[in-house]
Amino acid sequence: MLVDSFNRKIDYIRVSVTERCNFRCQYCMPEKPFSWVPKENLLSFEELFEFIKIGIDEGISKVRITGGEPLLREDLDKFIYLIHSYKPDIDLAMTTNGYLLPKVAEKLQKAGLKRINISLDSLIPEVAHHIAQKSVLSEVLEGIQKAKRVGLKVKINSVPMAGVNSEEILDILEFGISNDMPVRFIEYMENSFANRELVGLTSSEILEKIGKRYSFTDEGVEAGSPSHYYKLESGYRFGIIEPHRDDFCTHCNRIRLTAEGHLIPCLYFDEAMSIKDSIRDGNLKKAGEILREVVKNKPEKNRWDSQEESSRAFYETGG
Ligand code: 5AD
Ligand code: SF4
Repeated sequence: MLVDSFNRKIDYIRVSVTERCNFRCQYCMPEKPFSWVPKENLLSFEELFEFIKIGIDEGISKVRITGGEPLLREDLDKFIYLIHSYKPDIDLAMTTNGYLLPKVAEKLQKAGLKRINISLDSLIPEVAHHIAQKSVLSEVLEGIQKAKRVGLKVKINSVPMAGVNSEEILDILEFGISNDMPVRFIEYMENSFANRELVGLTSSEILEKIGKRYSFTDEGVEAGSPSHYYKLESGYRFGIIEPHRDDFCTHCNRIRLTAEGHLIPCLYFDEAMSIKDSIRDGNLKKAGEILREVVKNKPEKNRWDSQEESSRAFYETGG
């Protein structure tokens, strides 16, 4: 079992398979990076899988595939199948912008994917276009329906931004209600790659808008999830991810692996260790030591209080 120095059990790994993306979301990658990581520096699926196996043997029970946009990497279903075959009861999930899902959702589900989180920041085509800097809404909506139809459990992620989509919070929530999909609003996380003009809505601003139409009860936070949950009278639950909250990190159970093999203990910290060489040399013992070392060095808290933004790109770490 992997336990950090603050007695948090680490049983969840997020694996970014590519930093590339076919969207240019304002809060993440408004401009194409100067250069992408060269192909030879990316770990192959077999190499990533070698490391994931070590994690699973150490007690990891949840794997989430992220990007960039993970579906840009070819044959992703084969990677999913490798993980699924190694441990069929693993909680195997993915976060995607949904654009390519209509074509591949079925293949992913058949390969063993169980859950999928899809970003939906607006239901107005022009606003969605403005946010992603591409005409995306109809494909994303189709992707959401397709994922549901093939039997994936779908969650919606939405980042409310002042003057951009802040008047759509109720519409997004109602989209979730009518499609029977949990919505999670995410407080915008300041980072040095985002559009400098963005101002995110705080959790209380989001709740105030929802409260104009619905009564809800506060269900608190749950172990193993970064979300704070709320329940409407109908029983429908939605979440808000509040990274600015002082106690956000108390239940953190995760580490992150980038497509280049950097193992990162916390989204907001620059410290990372590379597992690339040990995996490429076939030195799995060393890779295991690095894993335990990174877990041991996991910081107690993110740095929102001492630093106003993250210097690491979320498209590199998978958010
Ligand atoms: N702030 C909040 N959420 C973000 N995401 C990406 N960048 C940010 C940010 N700066 C979220 C998106 C998407 C997921 C990949 O990460 O909502 O669903
Ligand atoms: Fe791409 Fe996701 Fe970043 Fe948007 S948030 S640019 S879809 S990686």
